[in-house]
This record gives sequence, structure tokens and C-alpha cells, in this order.
Amino acid sequence: MAHRANFGSKIGVVLAAAGSAVGLGNVWRFPTEVGNNGGAAFILIYLACVFFIGVPVMVSEFVIGRSTHANTITAFRKLAPRTWWRIGGIEGVFVAFFIFCYYIIVSGWTLHYMVASFLNRLSGDHDYKAYFQHFVSSPWEPVVYAIVFMLLVHFVIVRGVQNGIERFSKLMMPMLLLIIAVLVVCSFSMSGFTDGVLFLLRPDFSKVTPTVVLSAVGQAFYSLSLAMGCLCTYASYFGPKTNLTKTALSVSLIDTCVAVLCGFIIFPAVFSVPGVEADEGPGLVFITLPHVFNIAFHNFPLVGYLFSGLFYLLLMLSALTSAISLHEPVTAYIHEEWHVSRHRAAWMVTLACILLGVACSLSMGVWNGFRIGGLCLFDLFDFVSAKIILPLGGILICLFVGWKLDRRLVHSEVTNNGSLRVPLFRLYLFLVRWVAPLAIALIFFNELFNKS
Ligand code: PHE
Repeated sequence: MAHRANFGSKIGVVLAAAGSAVGLGNVWRFPTEVGNNGGAAFILIYLACVFFIGVPVMVSEFVIGRSTHANTITAFRKLAPRTWWRIGGIEGVFVAFFIFCYYIIVSGWTLHYMVASFLNRLSGDHDYKAYFQHFVSSPWEPVVYAIVFMLLVHFVIVRGVQNGIERFSKLMMPMLLLIIAVLVVCSFSMSGFTDGVLFLLRPDFSKVTPTVVLSAVGQAFYSLSLAMGCLCTYASYFGPKTNLTKTALSVSLIDTCVAVLCGFIIFPAVFSVPGVEADEGPGLVFITLPHVFNIAFHNFPLVGYLFSGLFYLLLMLSALTSAISLHEPVTAYIHEEWHVSRHRAAWMVTLACILLGVACSLSMGVWNGFRIGGLCLFDLFDFVSAKIILPLGGILICLFVGWKLDRRLVHSEVTNNGSLRVPLFRLYLFLVRWVAPLAIALIFFNELFNKS
């Protein structure tokens, strides 16, 4: 095979993987989950999930990627030739592709809101709910934004691993962290700061139920970008000196800090405006927050303008680095397995995603009547990929690395051929063999039978 690219520096490795992890899930999903599920009590459970389940699964993905230096499908095939384990690789690439198709739609919304807020279109007395619904169900507007967003992703991908993904992450991630710092400092001055922080951090152990624990595991998985072939593909570009456990710990730490800090941005604003309820998901960021920013900064319109512009820029950038990591596993697979140039492979993925993405987007407007199992195409993609295939993929990765792979190979990858001391290797193996697969199996059945 032709010479394969590698990431050039340690910091590039951490920032690219952190770019994948930090995404929409941190900005809108985590804070709402914390607020609704017992504040600091949820944060403690989440931390346990990240460190006892998320980090071991991430290290396992790194082991698969780095030991084979190949795209995810080839990686599984190389490690277990002619066995059914290859399903693990196929799952990763497929799920990345399908999640990508609707991730770009929501990312297109973030782009629209960023542009609208910099053009000062979000200020003034609007009915923000009607504004959002009108935008989402328009036949062309969300599609155009998704395509522009997609082309941004494409532009980074075609520049390659070092010049594209690594360079872009090294530029964007510090910028993202800077924006977060500025917004957190701003939110200190808001009248709702104390109430917002209390809502987020007051531990309420009475709210902790088994379902809450399971949603913490689910959130950790989604937020750390696990089981989608993304981190496995990135790991295939790691050099021989990359310390896998340290990288996984750094990425998880950055991801968790960003998630908590986003809570410090959102809730003080929400609590500064009487009568506003902390909504969930898209409703929170696209309907509640524009309204809140508008009222909270009523007397300081310039600050409001900057705060809202920076917030949507943050949202868009976090989506961009995550979307890049969803494009890469599919491009790498097509490039390496179908023997087409990386450039052409990237175009194939981009065009296919645009087609499917457009169908998803239209399914929320003009094509809403077309339903499968009661779900429109957008919800169907979300349900099948995130709720069904993803957990199964997670279990497969754990079983593969924990039980199928030769323990010596795993040990040699984790310790860089014996040159690193990893005192917790046994604990890692125990977590990957038992704790993680059982926990994921529990979420899976819970999601399937309770919520659907
Ligand atoms: N981790 C991202 C988030 O928090 C979502 C994502 C998952 C991105 C998988 C890429 C791959 O939003």
C-alpha cells in the first residue's frame, strides 16, 4: 500500500480527537441532562461513566486503529481474518455515514443561526418558535446551509490528514476554548448567574434512578464519539510514540470540561429571564436561547449581539470538527479499499451525504408525510443509527479487544511495545471485558424497550 499519512505532533493528535468529541452533544445535550437529572449528582455519575467505560472503550478503539494503520473495516479484517468480527468494522463506517447525513443538517442550522446573529437578524421582538419552524420546514434554506457546511468539511478532508484535519483542529480547538472562556466570563455578570449555577450543580440524589445512570452512559458514549469508527480511524494515523491511555484521558478530560463550561454559559442566561423554562435539545439552542439573549442583554445590545454571535460560532465550530471526524472513516475506507484517490473518495462521500442529507431535511418539511414505522426519515436515521447500531457496535469493540485479540498484542499497543509503564493495565482489561459491555447492553435494552 502507498505510504500512509500520520498525525505530525502529540498536540495535533489530542486536538483532532478532542475536536471529534466536542460537538453539539456537549453544548446542548449535556447541560440539559445535568439540569434535569440531579445536577452535581448526575455530573458525578457521568464522570464515573467517562472514566470507567468511556476511556477503556476509547483506548480499545485506539488499539484497533493503531495496530493496523488501516481504515476501520480493513482493521477488523486484518486482526481477525475471515471471521464475523468484521461486522464491527462495517458497523463503524456505516454508522458514521448515516449519522453524518443528519449531523450536517443540524450543523447547517447552526451555520444559519451564526450568520443570522452576526447579521443582527436575531435581535428584536421575534416569535422565535415560528422563526425556527419556518426555517426548518423551508424546502431550500436548510438544504443550502447544509451544503455550504458540507463543503467546508470537504475542503478540510481533501487537504489530507496532516494538512487538513490536524492543522484545522490545531487552529479551531484553541479558538473554540477561547470563545468558551469569553462567554463564561460574560455570564458571570448576568443576574441569573447564581441561580443558573445552582440549577446545574446542586446535587439532588433523589433524582438518580437506574434510567438516569443509563442516560449518563449513553451521553458519555455519544459525547466521546465512541463506536462510530471515528476515533479508530484517527488512531490509524497515530505514530508509534503516541501514548494511547494518556491521549484517551486528555480527550475525555477536555470533552467533559467543555460540557460543564457550556452549562455555565447557558443556564445563567436562561435564569436571567423570568418565566423562561430550560428547554431541551434543539428547542433550547434555537428557540429559547435567541429569546433569552435578546431579553437578558436588552440594555446592552452590543454585548448581546457579540454574545449571541460568539455562541453560535462556538456551536458551529464544534459541529464542524465533529463532522470532519464523521467524514474521515468513510473517505479512508473508500480510498483504501476501492483504490480510488483520496480526492475522489472524499467527493463520493460528500455527494452521497448531500443527497441523503437533503432527503432527511425535506422529511421535516415537504416530505413529512413519508414515514416508516411512524418516524420521518430524519428521526428514523437517528433512531436506527444512534439507538440500535451504535450500542451494538460498542459491545462488539469491547468483546473484540477484551476477548478475541491476543492479550500480548493489546498489552504491547497500550504500553508502546513495553516502553511505557501502564500500572492499570489489568483494570483496563477488566473494564473492557466485563463492565463496559454489560453497561452498554443495559442502555441498549433500556432505550429499546422504555423509550420507543
Ligand atoms: N461527540 C460529538 C458530540 O458531542 C458527536 C459525534 C459523535 C461526533 C460521533 C462525531 C462522531 O456532539
